[in-house]
Amino acid sequence: MKSREIKFALVGCGYWGANFLRIISNSEEATLCVICDTDGAKTTALAVRHPHVRFVDDVAAVASDPDIEAVVICTPVNTHLALTEMLIRAGKHVLCEKPLAQTSAQCGYLYTLAQEHKVVLLTGHVFEYNPVIRYMKQMIDDDALGAIRYLQLMRMGLGPMRSDVSVVFDLAAHDVAICISMMGHMPLSVMASGSCFVKEGIEDVAFMQLEFPGKVIAGIGVSWLDPIKQRLVKVVGEKKMMIFDDISVSEKLKIIDTGKNYQSTPGDFGSFQVSVKDGQIVIPNLQYTESLVTEFHHFSSCIRGREVPITDAAYAARVVRVLEAAQESIRQDGKKIYL
Ligand SMILES: NC(=O)c1ccc[n+]([C@@H]2O[C@H](COP(=O)([O-])OP(=O)(O)OC[C@H]3O[C@@H](n4cnc5c(N)ncnc54)[C@H](O)[C@@H]3O)[C@@H](O)[C@H]2O)c1
Repeated sequence: MKSREIKFALVGCGYWGANFLRIISNSEEATLCVICDTDGAKTTALAVRHPHVRFVDDVAAVASDPDIEAVVICTPVNTHLALTEMLIRAGKHVLCEKPLAQTSAQCGYLYTLAQEHKVVLLTGHVFEYNPVIRYMKQMIDDDALGAIRYLQLMRMGLGPMRSDVSVVFDLAAHDVAICISMMGHMPLSVMASGSCFVKEGIEDVAFMQLEFPGKVIAGIGVSWLDPIKQRLVKVVGEKKMMIFDDISVSEKLKIIDTGKNYQSTPGDFGSFQVSVKDGQIVIPNLQYTESLVTEFHHFSSCIRGREVPITDAAYAARVVRVLEAAQESIRQDGKKIYL
C-alpha cells in the first residue's frame, strides 16, 4: 500500500459509483481500501478485478474500520441521510452524491453534525467543478454578457429512472445548482408542473420556472422519457449569449454576440429563415479536465486542510430548498412558491 495517501471506502458501486472506483483507483493521493455495496452479485463480480480491495455489504463495517479516513457515498438518494450521519459520527470525511438529502432541514442537520465532528462533508454537485460552467460563470461575473435576460436549461433523455426520488430531485438538482451558482443568488420564487407516467407519485417529467432578482427567469426542463438526449445550458444576455451543449464533443460552448440588427424587421420569409443571428460566434478553446476528477481532488485537498469545501452541505441545502419548493408547486398545480 502506498504511504501518505488518504485511505478511502466507496459505498455504493452502481452506475455512478463505477466512476469513483476508477478515479480513486487512479488517484495519486488516495488508496481505495474498501467497497461496500448491498448487492452481493455486484461485489462478487468486482472482487475479481480488485483483489487488494476489501468488499463488505454493510456500511457499519466501514464506520467501524479505524483505517478508513474518508468515504464516497454513491447510493440512492433515500439512503444518503442515514449513511452520511453514521459515517460522520464515526469520524469519517464524507463526499456524498447529490442531492445530499431529501429535505433542506436534513442537509442543515448534516452540516451542523459535520462541524461538530470536525470532518469534511462535500456534496457531489459536479457542475461546480466543470470547466465550461466555470468559464461561463466567469463571463457573467466579468459582465461580458451585459445584463442577463434569461436562462434555459434542458436535461432530457431516456432514463435512468429512479424509484426513490422524482426527476426534479434527480436531474434538476444539477440545473438548480448551476442557476444559483451563475446568478450568485437564490431564486425569489419557483413555479413547476410535473407528471408521473411510469411510477405513481414519482414525477418523470417536469418543467420549472425560477425567478431571480432583476426579473431574470430561468426555465428548466427535465425528463426521463424523452427520445432526444439533451444537456443544454443557455444564458441570454444583453450583449452576448452562451450555449453549453454537453452532448457535443467538439463545440461544447458557443458564445454569440447579440448583434446590431437583432431587432430589425425581417424581410421576406426566405431571408427570415436564414437570419437567425448577425453577431459573431466564438467557440473558446477550453481545457476539458474531467469534472469528477477535479471534484475528487478538491475533496482530498479539503481533507488535507488546503482548501475549503465549495459544495458543502450549506450549498446542498440551498439546492434542496429550491427542489422542495418545486415539488410543492407541482403539488399545488403550478402555484408560485416564494422562497
Ligand atoms: N453527479 C452526477 O452527475 C450523477 C450521475 C448519476 C448519479 N448520481 C448520483 O449517484 C447516486 C447513485 O446513483 P446511481 O445511478 O449510481 O445508482 P445505482 O442504482 O446504479 O447504484 C446505487 C448502488 O448503491 C447500492 N446500495 C443501495 N443501498 C445501499 C446501502 N445502504 N449500502 C451500500 N450500498 C447500497 C446499490 O446496490 C447500487 O449498487 C445518486 O445519488 C445519484 O443522484 C450523480
